[in-house]
Amino acid sequence: MDFHITGPVKMRGEICVPGDKSISHRAAILGTLAEGITEIGGFSPGEDCLSTLRCLEALGAKVENSNSDLKIYGLGLRGLQEPQDVLQAGNSGTTMRILLGALAGQEGYFTLTGDASLRKRPMARVVEPLRKMGAFIFGRQGGRFAPLTVVGRPLKALNYTLPVASAQVKSAIILAALFTDGVTSITEPFLSRDHTERMLRSFGGKIKKKGLEVVVSGNNRLKGQKLFIPGDISAAAFFLVAACIVPGAEILIKNVGINPTRTGIIEIMRKMEADVRIINQKMIAGEPVADLLVRASKLKGTCIKGGIIPRLIDEIPVLAVAATQAHGETLIKDAQELRVKESDRISLTVKELKCMGAQVKELPDGMIIKGPVRLRAAEVNAHGDHRLAMSLAVAGLVAEGETVVREAESAGISYPGFFEHLKSLLED
Ligand code: S3P
Repeated sequence: MDFHITGPVKMRGEICVPGDKSISHRAAILGTLAEGITEIGGFSPGEDCLSTLRCLEALGAKVENSNSDLKIYGLGLRGLQEPQDVLQAGNSGTTMRILLGALAGQEGYFTLTGDASLRKRPMARVVEPLRKMGAFIFGRQGGRFAPLTVVGRPLKALNYTLPVASAQVKSAIILAALFTDGVTSITEPFLSRDHTERMLRSFGGKIKKKGLEVVVSGNNRLKGQKLFIPGDISAAAFFLVAACIVPGAEILIKNVGINPTRTGIIEIMRKMEADVRIINQKMIAGEPVADLLVRASKLKGTCIKGGIIPRLIDEIPVLAVAATQAHGETLIKDAQELRVKESDRISLTVKELKCMGAQVKELPDGMIIKGPVRLRAAEVNAHGDHRLAMSLAVAGLVAEGETVVREAESAGISYPGFFEHLKSLLED
């Protein structure tokens, strides 16, 4: 599908973004591993979370789904069943990596695969620590790439320091730790999102956090919960940037999760002198939530590097769009992880923004962007990457003339309905 947008536009209004993708995956997986019923409100409608649900159903979970409300009849920690066929994780790295941890200690034979993008993504980072726990995992190139096969075995506790900050790897080890008799300790180099830790605690898991270390005890029983999933800050990011760069814009984004491990985007936008207000703060199911009121702003270039990177990793393509409209230079460093996401987001963000006239230079671990530049309309391509599709649409809002985003349907991976929502905010 192609998305057409003619800029420059005027924008104003109120929006609700879909439920958080990361939290939705975890709610469905923990609900399946728990005993009793888990009810989830606000589940992400994105294709990635549907991949997780399909895998869980193939593993024996009974899932009732009406709109964004979900009821899962838990199977208990060791109750997952050997599926009849290969488990299909689609485009979703979170599904594949976290499920590996949940399956490593189950009885049975499980094979996980994914689409062409997922089959190119690095899996050794999760396979290696799980093997240290005793897991039996085989895969292409010695287990570095999917398809991956797990044969469930008894697992032992582990002390592990992650070489890269990754919430997916951390979560896989946390889930595998539930099948051990001991205490597992995981330390990360920088803080990554902590939704698994928060949610496991609410399901009754014994888990403690001490700075960058997480300590999990094995063999605890999980109990089904009632959860409500806040709006996804990674989806809100597109409107946040749009509101800042479209002259005269004002957008209220309702019920967004503002877990501090995810709010790097707000901190950086504020450093760029964006007018972002956090209002109506509350706690919902162990996660902080608020409305974000964002107004057009005169942005300033900034430096994005170091420990903040894992707290805004998915927002870098759209931050790059913001930087094209900011005064001065923006330097993005230490973000080499972006090269192994759904696409190589460094090279493709640079390539596509250059097509629109942006002054941007690729670095091995990031990019340098000079602004402000008047973007020109162009034919750009999302290369099957949802975050690129939405970032390029946001760039099109301020470009002169008609921008066409090719492969725009990929937005549905995390945000079906994104383009309709975007159009609903445009004024004549
Ligand atoms: C995610 C963690 C991040 C993020 C991804 C979702 C999660 O990846 O980029 O979109 O739900 O745990 P890493 O954990 O690999 O950094």
